[in-house]
Amino acid sequence: MRKSIPESWWAQLKLPVISAPMFLVSGPELVKNCCLNGVIGSFPAPNARLIEVLDHWMSQLNEELEHARVNDPNSKIAPWALNMVVHSSYSRLQDELSLIKKHQPQLVITSLGSPKLVVDIVHEYGGLVFSDVSDLKFAKKAAEAGVDGLILVASGAGGHAGQINSFAFVDMVRTFWDGIIVLAGSISTGKGVLAAQAAGADLAYMGTRFIVATESMANDEYREMLVEATQEDILLTDAFSGVSANMLKPSIKKAGLDPDQLVKKSKVDFDDMQKETNAKAWRDIWSAGHGVGSIDKIESTAAIVARLEVEYNEALQNINRNAGKLSTEKVN
Ligand SMILES: Cc1cc2nc3c(=O)[nH]c(=O)nc-3n(C[C@H](O)[C@H](O)[C@H](O)COP(=O)(O)O)c2cc1C
Repeated sequence: MRKSIPESWWAQLKLPVISAPMFLVSGPELVKNCCLNGVIGSFPAPNARLIEVLDHWMSQLNEELEHARVNDPNSKIAPWALNMVVHSSYSRLQDELSLIKKHQPQLVITSLGSPKLVVDIVHEYGGLVFSDVSDLKFAKKAAEAGVDGLILVASGAGGHAGQINSFAFVDMVRTFWDGIIVLAGSISTGKGVLAAQAAGADLAYMGTRFIVATESMANDEYREMLVEATQEDILLTDAFSGVSANMLKPSIKKAGLDPDQLVKKSKVDFDDMQKETNAKAWRDIWSAGHGVGSIDKIESTAAIVARLEVEYNEALQNINRNAGKLSTEKVN
């Protein structure tokens, strides 16, 4: 029997969705609103520039969501997640591990490096650890380190995209993994969420879809560019962080650069998002995945989740209708 997310989580979710952590985009307001609307909210720890600010964000999220649960015990309020870089060169590693012990988020998402240290701490208090991976080698390594879930970052994803097709990635990982799978990459609609489940994933990981949320930390120019953009405006380039990331061509042009004349950034320093040069690249040049084409307006997190629910239920009805036809044809 393969493992899925805990029963207690299903009771808190309106949709099997994690709003993915995004550098300079996901902050406590977005996370809180995702959770209050029944989808898991997450943010990357480096978005809190100071460790004291991170400490504050984590206690505030615990307090506000607990308060909401007490006030309305029947509403679905999802857990929140912290995303942290676990590479040994990451300067805040020990401080962030201490904050995890202190605030005990139900889910910790690790990027870049071995999740082992985090697994030991989070399992001690009964939380779960998911690791994001973009190829089979790292998926196997994370599985061996004892994580509960693998986040498969497939091709077309916003941020540092993988290169493997979503369906192929899930199938390949399922040959050696019976734990939780979260699928990432260009999932921007409720139908996409259902497709991720049909492909064998437990949860969908949606980044780009939530950038336009009014509660995100993105600025309006970025949001408007996303609304205007189609997949043709997305460029996979290693010019800004040294590894391939999907970026919005109009933002590259706006920064005075020619998208056709970019050169690879020689030094890969994305291990440490705190570095000013790195932050600057992501502040001025904006990222999005291939799913931009289905985003047509700036709206609140509540409105986005409500739309996703409608799309999900419509897709489910269509599938059931067609499945019904298949079985009728068989009988005839
Ligand atoms: C603007 C932006 C910033 C991102 N920053 C991070 C990050 O700091 N840490 C991380 O693990 N993933 C980061 N990602 C990747 C997302 O967590 C997620 O894998 C991706 O957005 C999923 O693909 P989608 O955007 O097509 O939905 C970022 C993505 C975007 C679009």
